Amino acid sequence: MTKLAVLISGRGSNMQSLIDACADDAFPAEVGLVVSNVPGAAGIDRAREAGIPATVIDHTTFDGRQAFEAELDGVLRGAKPDLVCLAGFMRLLTDGFVQRWRDRVINIHPSLLPAFKGIHVHERVLESGARISGCTVHFVRPAMDEGPIIIQAAVPVEPDDDVDTLGDRVLSQEHRIFPLAVRLIAEGRVRVVGERVIIDGAEIPDGALMNPAGP
Ligand code: GRF
Repeated sequence: MTKLAVLISGRGSNMQSLIDACADDAFPAEVGLVVSNVPGAAGIDRAREAGIPATVIDHTTFDGRQAFEAELDGVLRGAKPDLVCLAGFMRLLTDGFVQRWRDRVINIHPSLLPAFKGIHVHERVLESGARISGCTVHFVRPAMDEGPIIIQAAVPVEPDDDVDTLGDRVLSQEHRIFPLAVRLIAEGRVRVVGERVIIDGAEIPDGALMNPAGP
């Protein structure tokens, strides 16, 4: 059984998607610990309601990034997770931390990386005129929203979309691909080779998402 630590900063809907997936006995992972860097984040209550220990490590109370990460590292070492899942965790992690946990930390991002890294993603997608957006799960590297890509899902951008409608459409796919990435990793099917991901027995979908749809 693969043990997960889930790091959050906010509402925790992606964390919830992992908790829900883990509730199925056939799912090869369990959530051992939730850590929030934001006191009062809604996700903390959601975790506790599911009976999962949730810890707050408030970054504002530490003297710099290193000190915050030393505490985070200590808490994680205590819990001994096999995989650390960044689920809307809004802190950049330094080189040292990322190297120590290399290929054991994954992140979910609401765009088709490497496009639209960073924040305010849906706003920037809409401004760009892109007709397809989506979401990505990737292994974490020191640079923001960079690292070997494990899985992506694409959705159309609709003509009357606003940040909320596009965000909801992408989020519903996030809730599918995050647990799927965890399952593939837990099944030992995911390898990082030269900064690309190889998945044993990956099912490749047929066809293409076109927007507008063609004949
Ligand atoms: C998600 O869109 C995730 O991709 C991004 O931050 C948001 C977190 O939402 N990194 P939630 O806290 O999981 O609901």
